Amino acid sequence: SAELNPAVRSLEWLLGSWESDEPGEGTFSSIKPFRYTEKLHFSHVGQPVINFMFNAFNAESNKPLHRECGFIRMQPGTNKVAFIIAQNSGLVEIEEGELTGQQLNLQSKSVARISFAKEPHVQEICRVFKLQSDGRLEQTVSMATDNQPLAQHLHITYRRSS
Ligand code: HEM
Repeated sequence: SAELNPAVRSLEWLLGSWESDEPGEGTFSSIKPFRYTEKLHFSHVGQPVINFMFNAFNAESNKPLHRECGFIRMQPGTNKVAFIIAQNSGLVEIEEGELTGQQLNLQSKSVARISFAKEPHVQEICRVFKLQSDGRLEQTVSMATDNQPLAQHLHITYRRSS
């Protein structure tokens, strides 16, 4: 297995597999609150890039729901981070932000979708990933759509599964 590229060494704390410890909470002004579970996997092949896959499931039925995958890059010599993301809903996005300690604060810079994507369309996404002092990872996602202002959509914590 390749050695971790120094360009992404400051993201080493993300590497490996994670699984929600208790169901995550889904909310938004226009939808019924829901619960979900999620598995995350972060890996690398020695490039100055982290690869990731996030797979979410209905907490009751275990049915696969939302899925996203992509790449993480860092601007050399800075704490600037970019996520390049593809979602199964037909959305693609670039998020950029900063790494501060073991926390990533990200904001969408570019959002695009397939011509027949379901409405309402997402206009903006903000995320925070935080490694907590107890070793759990926390993700919070907010979004704005065509008809709703920026509000929280997801909150979940994960435990390392390998
Ligand atoms: C609804 C976007 C991640 C589950 C929605 C809606 C949007 C959206 C635009 C419709 C809101 C409305 O009708 O006003 C996103 C984006 C995500 C994301 C941009 C990632 C950045 C997830 C994840 C789950 C999830 C991880 C986990 C299962 C749902 C559910 C609904 C929903 C259950 C309500 C039913 C439905 O419209 O399908 N999401 N979502 N979403 N989302 Fe997400």
